[in-house]
Amino acid sequence: MKFKPLRHLILSSLLVLPLAGHAAERLNMLCAADNDWCELMRNSFEKESRVEVSMVRKSAGEIYAQLRAEANNPKTDIWWAGTGDPHLQASAEGLTEMYKSPMLAKLHPWAQKQAEISGYRTVGIYAGLLGIGYNPEVLKRKGVMAPKCWKDLLNPAYKGEVQLPNPNSSGTAYNMIATLVQLQGENEAFDFMKKLNDNVSQYTKSGSAPAKAAGRGETGIGVTFQHDLLKETLAGFPVEVISPCEGTGYEVGSMSIVKGAKNMESAKRFYEFALRADVQSLAAKANALQVPANKEASIPPRAPRLESVKTINYDSAKYGSNETRRRLLKRWDDEIFSLPR
Ligand code: F6P
Repeated sequence: MKFKPLRHLILSSLLVLPLAGHAAERLNMLCAADNDWCELMRNSFEKESRVEVSMVRKSAGEIYAQLRAEANNPKTDIWWAGTGDPHLQASAEGLTEMYKSPMLAKLHPWAQKQAEISGYRTVGIYAGLLGIGYNPEVLKRKGVMAPKCWKDLLNPAYKGEVQLPNPNSSGTAYNMIATLVQLQGENEAFDFMKKLNDNVSQYTKSGSAPAKAAGRGETGIGVTFQHDLLKETLAGFPVEVISPCEGTGYEVGSMSIVKGAKNMESAKRFYEFALRADVQSLAAKANALQVPANKEASIPPRAPRLESVKTINYDSAKYGSNETRRRLLKRWDDEIFSLPR
């Protein structure tokens, strides 16, 4: 056997050791907000922390399903944004890590409550109101009135003019089902959605798709979050936003660390970063008009405020529970999605 000369060995270890000592820190992030905001968060964190972030945008229901599938070998470290219900379901199933941030006291009570309900396996990061958007030009061309209430959506004049998201992928859509159930009662809400199906042209994969479609005149009416509709108006599209007269629901957008994350330290660094007031104030740069969870963050001037409209008292503990979410989604598949359109 031929041995390498000692000098060669020393030189090669000198070359290798410093590189090994500076292995780049990484973070695998799944993001459920609008892509502009996801990119902004990724870039800002990378710049400040020097952690290399790999980020993919998906809808909240899809992320929940991915985390379940990866549970034995997690490929994700942090799940940032998306409606609170699937975060709560994931925490109830033990898919997310218990973590109590020292910054909790700086958050609004609704954001802290989200953490408490989950046993500190998720936390609220923003709030947003559910609403109805319409394109006044499309409705005018059709000679139909604008809706003011949930019940108006059943008007036969809107046939083929309503887009809703699909709750199997979209957290927004599940938030709408839970809102209707809390407003009307479960059987009544399912009867309502059956009738509404007559007017629906499409159940979209992402929650904000109906807002984009309304803005571009591809649909007369879209149900989604009010901030997603207002984002279209900020971009110059003709979209009007209403808070339904019967009252409406809201989301507590959330963030969770994945149980067994391979990059746990980076995940915790990102978590603390994302709760900071200055970081939450960045949202306005991406035209993200949700209300930030940090009490010291600036609220974008056009952000729809929960206290300014009639809302239900959204029962996150119940509608984010494994049992209820699973049951309502199955019922929607069996009774609504199976109907002809
Ligand atoms: O960022 C836009 C937004 O509406 C968030 O407020 C919300 O949490 C998320 O998208 C819901 O997306 P989806 O319905 O596609 O899961």
